Amino acid sequence: MQQRALITGGSSGIGRAYAHYLAGLGWRVDLAAQSENRLMNTAAELDGPVHCYPVDLASFDGVQQLTSAASVPDLIIANAGITKVGSVGTLSQSESAKLQYLLCGGVIDLVQWAAPIMKSRGHGRIIIISSIAAETPMPNSSIYASAKTGITAFGRSIHSELKPHGVSVTISLPGYVRTNIHERAGLHHLNRQVPKWMWLSPEQVVRETEKASLAGRETIIPGRIYRLTRPFLGSRAANTAWRALTRKRRNL
Ligand SMILES: NC(=O)c1ccc[n+]([C@@H]2O[C@H](COP(=O)([O-])OP(=O)(O)OC[C@H]3O[C@@H](n4cnc5c(N)ncnc54)[C@H](OP(=O)(O)O)[C@@H]3O)[C@@H](O)[C@H]2O)c1
Repeated sequence: MQQRALITGGSSGIGRAYAHYLAGLGWRVDLAAQSENRLMNTAAELDGPVHCYPVDLASFDGVQQLTSAASVPDLIIANAGITKVGSVGTLSQSESAKLQYLLCGGVIDLVQWAAPIMKSRGHGRIIIISSIAAETPMPNSSIYASAKTGITAFGRSIHSELKPHGVSVTISLPGYVRTNIHERAGLHHLNRQVPKWMWLSPEQVVRETEKASLAGRETIIPGRIYRLTRPFLGSRAANTAWRALTRKRRNL
């Protein structure tokens, strides 16, 4: 029987690359994102039938619309996300709550819908696209970093809980990936300032994440450079360097 995946944020970047990868292997792929146009464009690139769910996953209503319309697939890739920059206290309560729900609370609600059914089937895979931000302090992106840390802790906890029931949970923690996320957040300068060797392609993130998931691993940091530097990520030196690289310079 054809295997089925549901990819949130499947219209762009990492989610779109995942959709191409799985469709190429003969999977049926269902996509959820906000913009119907972008969803349709991605669906048109893929072979075979694709079901699109245009929903706002930054709200409980949006997650409910998705879970009441879709059926639990063999694989969920909880990937939809944006980033927002702002020093502490400058995001409105509503902006902050939506960001936290999109990146953390909504992913928990989606997994709580799927996990009992996967458990009763005795198989299933869940992949959560978190971020390296869960491993290191991120000044001026504190809401993003805390939501990614929260969803990483949730994923790690259910990894052990669901493993004996045949359900695997893998959390992917990418660093910089060339997608639309930075432009969308007004962080155009990062494309020029962050050195080339720090950027991963969405396809590399997909390949390494999928391999880790199939091997039943709890976490994966895509990209050798990020894996090598992981032990130092929380250090003061690493943070000073990170801030220098990502600070917006006046002449850019
Ligand atoms: N790129 C990086 O450097 C990087 C690094 C670490 C982690 N990540 C994580 O990777 C994931 C994917 O991001 P990306 O880099 O691939 O960005 P992207 O190219 O901008 O794609 C983001 C996807 O999420 C969807 N999305 C955003 N807000 C949504 C909402 N409220 N409801 C439903 N869908 C929504 C977008 O659909 P619409 O366009 O329709 O809104 C789009 O399909 C995110 O969770 C991000 O935090 C990215």
